[in-house]
Amino acid sequence: MPLNDCRILELPKIHDPRGNLTFIEGDIHVPFGIQRVYYLYDVPGGADRGAHAHRNLHQFIVAMSGSFDVVLDDGVDQRRFHLNRSYFGLYVCPMMWRYLDNFSSGAVCMVLASSRYSEADYIRDYDEFMAAAKVLRS
Ligand code: TYD
Repeated sequence: MPLNDCRILELPKIHDPRGNLTFIEGDIHVPFGIQRVYYLYDVPGGADRGAHAHRNLHQFIVAMSGSFDVVLDDGVDQRRFHLNRSYFGLYVCPMMWRYLDNFSSGAVCMVLASSRYSEADYIRDYDEFMAAAKVLRS
């Protein structure tokens, strides 16, 4: 799927003087059913995460606190997204090489995923990713 399918989505936000509330329902606010949630936190300054692609996994990435960047690469084009609000998230479709950097101190990166953890779904070698992405384009 091309990079244009990956986009920032705005989530519902219930304003309240007691504090705002945002919710996410699978297949409604994100374009997949949610099978797994994980989060990155206590990320030291200067650290990079990611640097892999997923063959079939759909993901939605939210900066629950602080900020960071997500760089997506579909094998042809690259785009950098800055996430810094808990009511926006980035939808990442399958077969996107990604890495995350520029974490602010105290940043929390929550990821919603369409499947349970499977190492077989990962492509961790960039050359292997480029070859697989080329086959998909042909
Ligand atoms: P990984 O996805 O490689 O992290 P990142 O891309 O952010 O660097 O995962 C790091 C480790 O955590 C890896 O050994 C697998 C494990 N892990 C799980 O066991 N379950 C999960 O849901 C995730 C996301 C990772």
